Amino acid sequence: MTAINTTPANPAQADCVSVDLGDRSYSIHIGNGILDELEVYLAPVIGKARLFFVTETTVEGLYADKVKAALKRGSIGNHWFTVAPGEGSKSFATFEKLLNNILDTGIERTDIIVALGGGVIGDLAGFTAASLLRGIGFIQIPTTLLSQVDSSVGGKTGINAAAGKNLIGAFHQPKAVFIDPNVLSTLPLRELQAGYAEVIKYGLIDDDNLFSWLEKTGASILGLANSNQQQEHQNQAINFSCSAKARVVAEDELESGKRALLNLGHTFGHALEAECGYDGTLLHGEGVGIGMVMALDLSERMDLAKPGQAKRVADHLKSLGMMWSAREIAASLSAETLLKHMQKDKKAKAGKIGFILGGIGKAAMHYGVDLDLVTAVLHDSIEGLPLTGSEPQ
Ligand code: NAD
Ligand code: GLY
Repeated sequence: MTAINTTPANPAQADCVSVDLGDRSYSIHIGNGILDELEVYLAPVIGKARLFFVTETTVEGLYADKVKAALKRGSIGNHWFTVAPGEGSKSFATFEKLLNNILDTGIERTDIIVALGGGVIGDLAGFTAASLLRGIGFIQIPTTLLSQVDSSVGGKTGINAAAGKNLIGAFHQPKAVFIDPNVLSTLPLRELQAGYAEVIKYGLIDDDNLFSWLEKTGASILGLANSNQQQEHQNQAINFSCSAKARVVAEDELESGKRALLNLGHTFGHALEAECGYDGTLLHGEGVGIGMVMALDLSERMDLAKPGQAKRVADHLKSLGMMWSAREIAASLSAETLLKHMQKDKKAKAGKIGFILGGIGKAAMHYGVDLDLVTAVLHDSIEGLPLTGSEPQ
């Protein structure tokens, strides 16, 4: 874990993380109050382009006035398109309507789409930008912790299909990402916790010091501790996460290797999400949290992780009031059905499911895993059986 300065309160001194992709490189600006001075941040990125904002009703109600005031101060031309909040908006129907509405305004190739919202809006607006006029510029202004630490960075965009989540989309990198952690003050705790699961993920992939730091600061990051350092810890967590993701994306933009590690916990998590029906019963980050515990449990059973590591992560989730086992979603889940979902996973190759396994900070991709072991892990999580062992000190 490399040291990063706490983001200063003065937005003019916002931290900047680079995503190095040659002529498609861009900066992630992180600073409290960026939205209050958005015109200053936008100016060097957009030139004279008009901005076409895509947002949803909740975020519009909370932040559109502030953003519009900044656009007015900067004399920046803008149009707004608002969809319903929630995963349901990553649909063909919403995508088609959005494209047609934007085309009706006479958008041109020099105009820029701006996503103002969480991961749903980022994915939908990004795919809209990738598709309109064969691809136009795109800016991300993420407003959930999940989108600030993960989905706004790296250029994965898309919508859901009847056959599964995120199956239609494109890699389309943004021109810039503007993160104002102040917007997290209006985010419900459950959404904050779901985003926090993705922060833990970076520690589990290749940074055990980050995970140890999160064990100490997680409660402060989520506002559950009597701490006057919440903002400082939140900003550090966002910085560490964006830096980790930027490094991986720069190395493997199109996911031919290392980037697949960012899906740690997702093979299990996506199966849980699919079974729950994307209706809010289980949030993406909640599935990832439970999935990471399952991945560590499987790793221990395959001697790829020291005993006690799954319990250590589960204990951390529990200490923050987060789910750690499938039992907490519904007792009626079936290991066999979840395994069927996993066999449809995007990472499957020649019918073999891909699992990201290994001890804390040492994740690697594995194929050809014994499915009886996977079923046993799923079964024990559905039963909510306690994880055992403790890591040697
Ligand atoms: P989301 O966009 O649905 O937002 C979650 C909820 O928070 C919504 O109800 C929204 O209205 C509300 N909200 C947003 N900002 C708010 C704010 N500041 N204050 C109050 N409420 C606010 O969900 P999400 O968790 O941000 O994103 C999940 C989506 O991201 C999924 O579709 C997932 O597939 C996708 N995703 C994409 C990538 C990627 O690399 N592209 C990575 C991870 C996840
Ligand atoms: N969230 C996984 C990725 O961006 O690759």
